[in-house]
Amino acid sequence: MSDHRTDQDVIDVLTTDHREATELIEQILASSDPEQRRDLADSLISELVRHSVAEEMYVYPAMRDHLPNGDEAVEHDTQEHKELERTMKELEGAEASEPRFVELVREVQRILADHVEDEETEQFPQLRTHLPQEELVRLKTVVEAAKKIAPTRPHPAAPNAELFHKVVGPGVGLVDRLRDKLSGRDTG
Ligand SMILES: [Fe+2]
Ligand SMILES: [Fe+2]
Repeated sequence: MSDHRTDQDVIDVLTTDHREATELIEQILASSDPEQRRDLADSLISELVRHSVAEEMYVYPAMRDHLPNGDEAVEHDTQEHKELERTMKELEGAEASEPRFVELVREVQRILADHVEDEETEQFPQLRTHLPQEELVRLKTVVEAAKKIAPTRPHPAAPNAELFHKVVGPGVGLVDRLRDKLSGRDTG
């Protein structure tokens, strides 16, 4: 195996997701404008649901099949995803000018930090060790395709903002609508 990889693989994609979500949280916490906070929080929710569903659909099976403690690792990660979603469901309906909103963002930050730590220090290196590079590159392709099934949350002034609102819509129920769309439970 070459020690300098030229192709991006699924681990690169998921690690970039982690960085982007972590940065979005910092931007939310640095903002004092409720409208901007709401906007960034909806983007964060949208990106994290997309990331979780992609991991569950394509990375969990690889973990179960190839990692020595795969079932255990998947079980632990599933619990973290559920905890993240519970908190994001509160956040989607929280008033951005209220102190509770910031508490919830900090809670997402804490859970995400644990998630990132576990995956980037344990599961991701193990996947790189146990899976052939071609398989990691193939998984990158399917994960990227899976993430595209739901539209990304654009800036409200962006040309495709209307599409996002029509297909997904912000506010209460955002997490469920996105998850249904991404996991194919949505028929509309
Ligand atoms: Fe992750
Ligand atoms: Fe995860």
